[in-house]
Amino acid sequence: MANKTKHPTATNLQIIVGSTRETRNIDLIVPWVAKRAAQREAFAVEVLDLRDWELPLFAEHMGTLGDINDPTYSAPVVKQWNAKIAAGDAYLFITPEYTHSIPAVLKNAIDSVFASFAFRNKPAAFVGYSVGIAAGTRAVEHLASIAIEAELIPLRNTVLIAKVQQSFAHGEPVDPETEVALDIMLDDLAWWAEVLKQARAGGELPPASVRRRLATAKRTNG
Ligand SMILES: Cc1cc2nc3c(=O)[nH]c(=O)nc-3n(C[C@H](O)[C@H](O)[C@H](O)COP(=O)(O)O)c2cc1C
Repeated sequence: MANKTKHPTATNLQIIVGSTRETRNIDLIVPWVAKRAAQREAFAVEVLDLRDWELPLFAEHMGTLGDINDPTYSAPVVKQWNAKIAAGDAYLFITPEYTHSIPAVLKNAIDSVFASFAFRNKPAAFVGYSVGIAAGTRAVEHLASIAIEAELIPLRNTVLIAKVQQSFAHGEPVDPETEVALDIMLDDLAWWAEVLKQARAGGELPPASVRRRLATAKRTNG
């Protein structure tokens, strides 16, 4: 689902849907989050449902990548996924809690971008939920750590939804505090997206792995 009718300078916000199983409860949350984000002038919203992205389990190595400046990857869908993520300016991850973490399908989708650095220097916000009282808290904490390693900029303010099956009526949350939490998070995301977009336009440092290689070559070549 895309909403690309906004001003060309609008932030490309990608909402990443972290559960793919049949009967998933995430479908209670996604339409509400997407609607609220799309109501803002700041965002051109695209929902990336991992059900539509049948990514293989991570299998990249130098042989599958080929030319590092234009990698082939292990499957065409991995290349398409990398290009899609590269087109985003900001990310909003919606994740349930699976075994005190995020679903493997979501971790795999993040790992699949490893070689292209497509998430680098862009903000990430998180909505977590579960059917019990934990509200996805541990999944979001874990996702924030993962985000750092992907060189995303994880934001502090989150939306956490406990007892998800009882928390929505007519497509909207029953607790007004949940609306406030989403509003605050979207404000932050819009602000950081703009700041980082401008910063990236001014030039980015190469990834540490590239700088490390350059430093080694310099040492070796005297
Ligand atoms: C494999 C698995 C592990 C789970 N582990 C947790 C957990 O650690 N903590 C929790 O609060 N809920 C846990 N749950 C319950 C989920 O929060 C609940 O099933 C939620 O609806 C999952 O989102 P989904 O329906 O959109 O897939 C787990 C569910 C699954 C399927």
